Amino acid sequence: MTPRHFISLLDLSSDEFRSLINRASVLKINRDSDYQPLKGQVLAMIFEKSSTRTRISFESGMSHFGGSALFLSPRDTQLGRGEPLQDSARVISSMVDCIMLRTDKHETVTTFAQHSSVPVINGLTDLQHPCQLLADMQTYFEHRGDIKGKTVTWIGDGNNMCHSYIHAAMRLGFVLNIASPQGYLPLPEIVEAAGDCVRFFDTPLAAAQNSDLIVTDVWASMGQEEEQNQREIAFKDYQVNAEVMNAAHDDALFMHCLPAHRGEEVSAEVIDGSQSVIFDEAENRLHAQKALLEFLLCKRPR
Ligand code: CP
Ligand code: NVA
Repeated sequence: MTPRHFISLLDLSSDEFRSLINRASVLKINRDSDYQPLKGQVLAMIFEKSSTRTRISFESGMSHFGGSALFLSPRDTQLGRGEPLQDSARVISSMVDCIMLRTDKHETVTTFAQHSSVPVINGLTDLQHPCQLLADMQTYFEHRGDIKGKTVTWIGDGNNMCHSYIHAAMRLGFVLNIASPQGYLPLPEIVEAAGDCVRFFDTPLAAAQNSDLIVTDVWASMGQEEEQNQREIAFKDYQVNAEVMNAAHDDALFMHCLPAHRGEEVSAEVIDGSQSVIFDEAENRLHAQKALLEFLLCKRPR
């Protein structure tokens, strides 16, 4: 039987996405219960890139559920010495119950999934970061209720986070306003598939008008460190600051997946201000991914 993977938010139906959000909030409330649906199950976590939140939330989530997690880096496994992905996927999936990967190339995760006999979770690629969106949407629902019909504004790089925001807009029925500098727009094929869910603006101020949620991310993602200087020039007018927040609705929230660079993509005043929900957002990685693990691994014949 082909396992159910979570590589993209588009792997979920709208109903599944909403029920994961609701389930995550229930698990959060019942955090101290002794519910252990994944007793004896093992999650392998392959990290080609650094992580604080993703690693700790998956590792803690498995532990809460009675299972365990293995941290694997290419440096310490044969993956780093060129063992074919196909072979690695078959071998690792024969020994564990689920595999999470954080990789440079999105194709690494899709290839791995094709050859894995257990569910594969995308823990961030150059193209998408769907786990983060589970947590972001849970956070919005907890603070403001359903996001359907609302307006969200993405300011900055049209990167992996932006792509996953576009997918969330498609599944949850909100409009995504995007303000990105020329040369840093999201991929056209992802934008085209989203139809009316996405609108582009020339400036952050124009994009933020009447918004319910303002989101941004670093100017240089992992792997783009050498572009930092040129990106600082390209993005200098794309900071989320008080002026941008004032253009949005009075009760608009601010989110950032973290880690953040205060004074670059966001001012300290905004990220540390009253509209920012970044720490709820970070904590919700734990609850949202527990809901995801339960969804993918429970009721699965072993
Ligand atoms: N937001 C996020 O994925 O954080 P980490 O890189 O720390 O996992
Ligand atoms: N866009 C960022 C997200 C980090 C969680 C990156 O890919 O580095």
